[in-house]
Amino acid sequence: MKIIKEAKRSQFKNEEGIFSSEIKGSTTLEVSEFYSGAPFPNYQGYESAFVLEKIVSKNPFLNDLKNHIGFGKKFIEVGSGTCQLSLAFAAGTNNLLVAMDPTKESLKLGKDFARKNNINNVVFLNSDIFDDVVQDSFFDVVWCSGVLHHTKDSKKGFEIISKWVKEDGLIIIGVYNKIGRLRTNFRQVIYRILKKSNFSIKLISLLDPYLRRNLSEEKRRAWFLDQYEHPVERKHSIDEVMNWFEDNSISYLGSIPSPSFEFKKISQMDGNKGLFINRFFAQITMLFSNLGGEGGLCIVVGKKMKKVDR
Ligand SMILES: C[S@@+](CC[C@H](N)C(=O)[O-])C[C@H]1O[C@@H](n2cnc3c(N)ncnc32)[C@H](O)[C@@H]1O
Repeated sequence: MKIIKEAKRSQFKNEEGIFSSEIKGSTTLEVSEFYSGAPFPNYQGYESAFVLEKIVSKNPFLNDLKNHIGFGKKFIEVGSGTCQLSLAFAAGTNNLLVAMDPTKESLKLGKDFARKNNINNVVFLNSDIFDDVVQDSFFDVVWCSGVLHHTKDSKKGFEIISKWVKEDGLIIIGVYNKIGRLRTNFRQVIYRILKKSNFSIKLISLLDPYLRRNLSEEKRRAWFLDQYEHPVERKHSIDEVMNWFEDNSISYLGSIPSPSFEFKKISQMDGNKGLFINRFFAQITMLFSNLGGEGGLCIVVGKKMKKVDR
């Protein structure tokens, strides 16, 4: 298991294809217990490898990322939940995917999917970011979306995962945005004011654009609990994330939303941060797009600097 630091390999056991270690951090245990009862994002039930690949191909950013990566690369999805992204990026490639999460129940769903769909290039790793078990400078891409804001310390978590990416490799994170999540925060307030009654659940199901979709019972429950009942949740601005990047030798390439207000492929991202006012308005635009309607995640892409550039 070259993926794991040599000194930490003995902590792991292979439990039916999931490499597991004991999770000890109190916040991680609390959050992991929460997701054990509602693995996120869960499945519709009809997905196949082909369906997951199709979902990726319809999403301009994910489609570009998959093409950009190409073949023979190492990619870790940190906080993979039920592993859809890892599975979709593994399918039809010879890339090595690592789906890492402290919630075993979520990894089990991913593992079962991989077995049924004959996807053999995903390693399932049951671990906590803060145990820092992954080899430094090992991955071409480190992806961590929807995770850091649910940990004990987003910046410290970022500092750890940013060591796992190779020089010139990509690190992509998605965090709840201070402005972009306001629509969800508004619904959270309604839910609490109405004392989490059956009526408030029905109202939220009408107001939340994601819940208006045709979802399996498992996906609906996972989303509702994740958005309205989470025990640990923070928000961050693009500027905060840019500072984390700077402090950890990661150069900012681009983001969604972008300070230049246009979608750019990864190969076209030029690191233009714009002015504070551009970034402020870019985050405001989230309120009027799917990004803000569905949770308010802001995606930021960076590249690990070479030692000579630092
Ligand atoms: C909202 S889910 C996101 C899942 C997936 N990334 C997605 O976007 O669909 C958050 C995930 O982060 C995981 N997580 C929470 N704390 C973590 C930690 N300290 N280290 C690694 N993963 C963590 C949870 O177990 C959960 O599966």
